[in-house]
Amino acid sequence: MGLSRQELTVRVLVRWERTRRSLRSCVKRVLLSEGVEDHKVWGTIHAYCMELMKRLRTIDAFLEAAVRNSSVRDLDPWVRNALRVATFEMKFNDVKPAIATNEAVKIVLDELGEGPARFVNAVLYDVEELSMDDVLDRARDEIERLAIEYSHPEWFVRHLLDTLGREELERLMEANNREPERYLRVHAHLIDPDKVVLELEKEGVVVEEDPDVPLILRVVEHDVPPVRTEPYRRGWVAYQDKASAAAAYALRPDPGDSVLDACAAPGNKSAYLYALAEGEIELTCVDVNPRRLREMRRNFRRWGVEARIRRADATELERELDSERFDHVLVDPPCSSSGAYARSPETRWTVRWRHVNRYARGQLAILRGVAPLAEHSLVYSTCSVTVVENEEVVRRFLREEDGFEPEEPFDLGSPGVERWRGQRYPWHDRVRRLWPHRHRTEGFFTARLVRS
Ligand SMILES: C[S@@+](CC[C@H](N)C(=O)[O-])C[C@H]1O[C@@H](n2cnc3c(N)ncnc32)[C@H](O)[C@@H]1O
Repeated sequence: MGLSRQELTVRVLVRWERTRRSLRSCVKRVLLSEGVEDHKVWGTIHAYCMELMKRLRTIDAFLEAAVRNSSVRDLDPWVRNALRVATFEMKFNDVKPAIATNEAVKIVLDELGEGPARFVNAVLYDVEELSMDDVLDRARDEIERLAIEYSHPEWFVRHLLDTLGREELERLMEANNREPERYLRVHAHLIDPDKVVLELEKEGVVVEEDPDVPLILRVVEHDVPPVRTEPYRRGWVAYQDKASAAAAYALRPDPGDSVLDACAAPGNKSAYLYALAEGEIELTCVDVNPRRLREMRRNFRRWGVEARIRRADATELERELDSERFDHVLVDPPCSSSGAYARSPETRWTVRWRHVNRYARGQLAILRGVAPLAEHSLVYSTCSVTVVENEEVVRRFLREEDGFEPEEPFDLGSPGVERWRGQRYPWHDRVRRLWPHRHRTEGFFTARLVRS
């Protein structure tokens, strides 16, 4: 007989802790190794793991309150994750505590034997007795209380409390815990967008055109996931969040313009630009990571995107490209992904505050590296909501490079943050932020810097 949903999830979590790869890839590995090839089962387990991952901080707070003489961190990975799954079941999924406990005990008994199984039984007995208020009352301060209640990292709560204030921060975290909107990009260089809408509808995927960003469709409802439809298989559409497409839209190239995407893989923003220009741009796509470049090459073949692809480090790009110049340059560097907590909840637990500062240093280095290559505009975007990776990076860049001016990138979203920790950003209304709780998108920052 196959493994239960709970046991598969425990295996996925154990693997995720060990590898820190994406949840999706952990689900795939575990299910393939168990001989599960049905994609519907993959989808169900992935969705279940995502929901659990969103609640991980709250679940661990229940466990910390129940595990005596030890810490959740120090437990055996099988014990820890069986406890997490059972706690998730009883506190968030309305599963009867006795049923959730029995399943966890069975999993640990099979894997580790009687002693650990008895321990799991005792801990879950205590978890059953605890209420959310019991757990929140144990928090040492307001930051920890909010972090537990909404299951977000403490650094995130601290930083965004400063930036947004409490009421709005709570709305942001609530939005991060909901199902995110799904958007599709249409490859208008391959297919008439109206035809795609009809083809998707025929297969039970209802979409509506986004009113703000061309070629973006919002998925309203679906009988089958869009990824299983003919338009997706044929490369006519691909998933892309509206905010990510908007960042690329900010470049607004004219037909024939040359565009450099300095951190391009796996190619979504480049593909959006190519589709928008119906193929009438000269696209150069650079990335440093060979695996992601391979993925981009595969994507471009499927999506019918023609581009010159180069493996290079964007901080040294001027030398690599022999001082070539481009009309427009896009910099979409690695970031904390703190705007994508709804879609990739696992990043809440892998990226720490010290990483945020490290990302910011890397972002500035890439911007500096590519600035000389931009003849007209330089667009900087991240799927992060921190000031450190956004307004602060732009401020430091502009302080050194006096040849650029921020110009409103598009008529959508909110202005940037006006001040933070004694710094003022006088151009804050000429950069743009999209927020999950305000705009039903990922959290995104876009600055369009033009040569003055
Ligand atoms: C946020 S992702 C880009 C996503 C892409 N723009 C899209 O829309 O599909 C950041 C990319 O930057 C690449 N990268 C990181 N450091 C780099 C560097 N120094 N030079 C060039 N690419 C870099 C990473 O490999 C990664 O693919």
